[in-house]
Amino acid sequence: MPHATAPGRDLRSRHWFGADGRSGMLYRSWMRNQGFADDVFDGRPVVGIAVSGSELAPCNAHLSRIAESVKRGVWEAGGLPLEFPVMALGETVLRPTAMLYRNLLAMEAEELLRANPLDGVVLLSGCDKTTPGLLMAAASTDLPALMITGGPMLNGKFRGEDIGSGTHVWKFEAEVRAGRMSEADCAFAESCMSRSNGHCMTMGTASTMACMAEALGMQPPFGATWPAVDARRYAMAQHSGRRIVDLIREDVRPSSIMTREAFENAVRVNAAIGGSTNAVVHLLAIAGRLGVPLELDDFDRLARDVPTLLDLMPSGRFLMEDFCYAGGLPAVIAELGDLLHTGAATVTGGPIDAPARAGEAPCHDRRVIRPIDDPFKAAGTGTAVLRGNLAPSGAVVKQSAADERLLVHRGRARVFDSPEEYYAVAEDPDLDVDADTVLVLRNCGPSGYPGMPEVSNVPLPSRLLAQGVTDMVRVCDGRMSGTAYGTVVLHVAPEAAVGGPLALVRDGDEVGLDVPGRALTLHVDEGELERRRAAWTPPAPLADRGWVRLYCDTVLQADRGADLDFLVGSSGAEVPRESH
Ligand code: FES
Ligand code: MG
Repeated sequence: MPHATAPGRDLRSRHWFGADGRSGMLYRSWMRNQGFADDVFDGRPVVGIAVSGSELAPCNAHLSRIAESVKRGVWEAGGLPLEFPVMALGETVLRPTAMLYRNLLAMEAEELLRANPLDGVVLLSGCDKTTPGLLMAAASTDLPALMITGGPMLNGKFRGEDIGSGTHVWKFEAEVRAGRMSEADCAFAESCMSRSNGHCMTMGTASTMACMAEALGMQPPFGATWPAVDARRYAMAQHSGRRIVDLIREDVRPSSIMTREAFENAVRVNAAIGGSTNAVVHLLAIAGRLGVPLELDDFDRLARDVPTLLDLMPSGRFLMEDFCYAGGLPAVIAELGDLLHTGAATVTGGPIDAPARAGEAPCHDRRVIRPIDDPFKAAGTGTAVLRGNLAPSGAVVKQSAADERLLVHRGRARVFDSPEEYYAVAEDPDLDVDADTVLVLRNCGPSGYPGMPEVSNVPLPSRLLAQGVTDMVRVCDGRMSGTAYGTVVLHVAPEAAVGGPLALVRDGDEVGLDVPGRALTLHVDEGELERRRAAWTPPAPLADRGWVRLYCDTVLQADRGADLDFLVGSSGAEVPRESH
């Protein structure tokens, strides 16, 4: 037989397409209506291609073209490629937040992988939540899998200047509000930002998670950085189509790639690239699916000796296209050297530092990827994990996006129970805030504002903008876009909506932030907090049916990755019973 599987390996697809009698006929006959040649059911590996794209998810809209390249490779290697859609999550358009659906995508994809006659899968993702969602699904079925992200958009270009996805939206908004940019110029800039297929080209969550997929060993080298429109991304996809067939034949599973070592590498790489705070939540959730012990404090402990090497927006100057031409993630991995587990396994079959070993990971632009002995930001200045009586289960702050002068700060709280409550007064010239005020924004956590949206970096009150204030301390149980910046304490856990201490803060309370000391403190004595706690009543449920109800009833806090409690872990891929 021309496409025999490895000796002794009975592929799971044989339980469908290799079945005798009525069952086999049912499984094969309807597939034949697509015009496949007779011998595609000869026992060759069946490769699913999970496409998380649609016209409602613009960052992923081109993934079906990448799927075509994957198919070429699968056919060449003697496999049968079958493309299928999974939830497409468009970060910018979905309300109340795409994050509300990450776990639903993960659940949908997991069930599709298990229920269908697939021996392995190529996961095509791009926009923020699609990468973690698909990795969670792959982890929970543990079928051979490989990821290809869709790649970043070309650099934004506005009047000779590079502009970055998201980052410049916040910048331009502040410029317009401060009267330094006209509405007309801002409207023109809008057309200059998103110029090609692809996801955000800042080091936002999509670029971060693409790098995480590569650092975990699930995406081939350079996969995170080729621009979406670069021909080499399509060549990589074709190679990956060949490679997934090998992974199936060799029975290499995600659990043997996404190990504790791989997660330690990912956490360190995230520090080196100045990655999004959202990576914390997503990596915790993926690790939870695999049973890999990974804790919030690991993100601080493992990153403390890792400097930030990349000078990319939102913290720095450059964009993903520059990062690609400077050498891509393999150059960062080469620079980190022994700070990583260099022998960690990857989907290529080689170790994570294989490009470096082969001399294929030089840096071509030291402005973009800085050397480790002359980094962009010193070690220990990445995402810090804070604790204290205001965040007993932890909170995070992205130091590189913060104003250094605010990293140790004590100020009076001005509390808002929702972003809407804040926006209603943000333009008020008499708002009772000054530059030292700590804006406390609550009820934005996983169940309080279902999905824990990226609302924490509320823009500064107009009164302070008019005074020339550019940053202030904000404390919130929600998230912040990976493209955003500011001294914003995020992911405060437990969240206010479940009775976390954030719910007890009142206007005028003193809040202390001590990032070097890793502390977030509410300077109110315990007796008073007890009295407030006794008087606290939980908010009314946000939904009495449907997905939102299931989500709110079962979502874990941010320090556990905001997965649903019943989705943690893996169920494998076995489905012993017939469908007819
Ligand atoms: Fe899709 Fe940023 S909005 S990647
Ligand atoms: Mg985002």
